[in-house]
Amino acid sequence: MSKVELVRSHLQDFGMAANVILNQNIKKQIKAGKSVHAFGFGQSPFPVMEEAIEALREHAEENEYVPVAGIPLLRQAISDFHFRYDKIRFSPDNIIVGPGSKELIYALVNVFGGDILVISPSWTTYKPQTQLANQRCVVLNTTAEDEWRVTPEIVEKAMEDKTLSKYKLLILCNPDNPTGTHYTEEHLADLTEVFRKHNILVLSDEIYGRLCFNHKHVCMSKVYPEGAVISTGLSKCASVGGWRVGYHVFPDELKTLKDAVECVGSNTNSCACTPVQYALAKMLNCEEKFDQYLNHTTRIMAKAGDYAYKELTAAGVEAVKPYGGYYLFPDFGILKPALAKRGITTGNKMCEAMFKEKSIVLMAGGPAFLRPESELTTRLCYVNFDGKKALQKSREIGLDKPLPEDFIKEQCSPLYHGIQAIVSWVLEQKED
Ligand SMILES: Cc1ncc(COP(=O)(O)O)c(C=O)c1O
Repeated sequence: MSKVELVRSHLQDFGMAANVILNQNIKKQIKAGKSVHAFGFGQSPFPVMEEAIEALREHAEENEYVPVAGIPLLRQAISDFHFRYDKIRFSPDNIIVGPGSKELIYALVNVFGGDILVISPSWTTYKPQTQLANQRCVVLNTTAEDEWRVTPEIVEKAMEDKTLSKYKLLILCNPDNPTGTHYTEEHLADLTEVFRKHNILVLSDEIYGRLCFNHKHVCMSKVYPEGAVISTGLSKCASVGGWRVGYHVFPDELKTLKDAVECVGSNTNSCACTPVQYALAKMLNCEEKFDQYLNHTTRIMAKAGDYAYKELTAAGVEAVKPYGGYYLFPDFGILKPALAKRGITTGNKMCEAMFKEKSIVLMAGGPAFLRPESELTTRLCYVNFDGKKALQKSREIGLDKPLPEDFIKEQCSPLYHGIQAIVSWVLEQKED
């Protein structure tokens, strides 16, 4: 039996998530003894908080299916958490907990009755999810000059297409994976005017919202309370990606959508993992400890992002200065003429050369991030260091003192050496 016969026609060219595949391949190579500078996959380098591990042990015997939308204890803890950080009081009844925000995004994309708008560059998953759900997907192209932000003008231009549905759902990632860009309150307010005018709802992916440095994260609900669904979780900020719990917050006005997403949950996953829900509720309620954990981990990430950004831009590579999350989207366009002489004309070919010549693992911008193949952009995750060691050192230093200048070199040496490897590769290309 062929694929054509067995798989639905709109999924004939459907592939595995590019970032997940790359991560699996790299893990295999590392296991086989190869030493690499792994910048390909964005997950927290830090250990899970002791309190959460202890709580998970305590609740391992909880084996019941619990409410589809999540246990009340966790939803209340999430509501309190956002009140402390965003100064917004979400009703626990408007929160849906699921097996990862990725699954909830897919549920929402699936049930939504209009067109889906995604931004380029984009996280590798949004567009494939629209394909899986057989939804129309419109791509809004941004530019490096606008620091890869979607602007009111870009949205207005897209709205000239008269074939679009009455309602649209724009997926906005803030702070952004893959570009590292972020939106201020002013950016969001300007966009919201256009959203209201054109019936555009926003799926605001704020999974990196608690990992902001040098600025305060602004939750989309503050600016667009009636039209934003907040998609987030603790995978990144509490380093529990593999525990598979995420959540969405809906406004009262979008109760119909919330109910539809809950129906998807009841017919698919039934509930998110019960012991993990109890453990995370307990962790969130250890407010002071969790605040301290966030303060330490974000100041380390700030140092890491700053270091990667400064070194690469000093070598002539272009990138947006990161203010949150794990990512840079370095553009090696400056090397275009030199690489063309070597027959390297695509981002993929360039990344292959970096891997062969310096064991550097970077994901090419290209189609996986909705960019042209010939663009020499890449996605760099600056998380390749021993987070346990770095966290311990930061705790020893204490939050009342800044991290020393040589922190990355001394405590995050794989990141330090990896970035130096990229810099030396760039300089070699320039010399040729
Ligand atoms: C932009 C973005 N959104 C959502 C997710 C999904 O997170 P989770 O399903 O663990 O909640 C990720 C994870 O890599 C991400 O990078």
